Amino acid sequence: AIERTFSMIKPDATKRNLTGKIVDRLESAGLRVVASKRVYMSKAQAEAFYAVHRERPFYGELTAFMSSGPTVVQVLEGEDAIAKNREVMGATNPAEAAPGTIRADFAQSIGENAVHGSDAPETAKEEIAFWFSGVEIVG
Ligand code: CMP
Repeated sequence: AIERTFSMIKPDATKRNLTGKIVDRLESAGLRVVASKRVYMSKAQAEAFYAVHRERPFYGELTAFMSSGPTVVQVLEGEDAIAKNREVMGATNPAEAAPGTIRADFAQSIGENAVHGSDAPETAKEEIAFWFSGVEIVG
């Protein structure tokens, strides 16, 4: 089915000028960018977005990193968009990511791992609503 998912190009990747290369991977996989903006999130926004991880030992590091520079937040649309995006991204830890995936090619560590993508329909819906209003999404 045609789905929407939420994607972020993280500060490590925007800093290294990899936005276009990453979007090319997504588009080449058949995903369509239906909303996109560059944000410099505050620590409070990063904490709210990643609230599900607040008990994890890496929460402080994660939210400090995500508020350390610009991020590109996007909505992607396509057939099985959630699973397809996760396939193109590769495993969270770049050392475990399959060859040819975004994280294998562009990520530096498990924390500075270039991209984020929603893991399920319910989280996709919540994450899209966190960053975008309805009129900002143009399919
Ligand atoms: P993401 O898909 O954005 O969702 C949560 C993030 O936490 C994850 O990608 C990783 O970048 C980050 N993360 C997971 N495990 C660790 C860890 N052990 N140390 C630092 N960051 C982590």
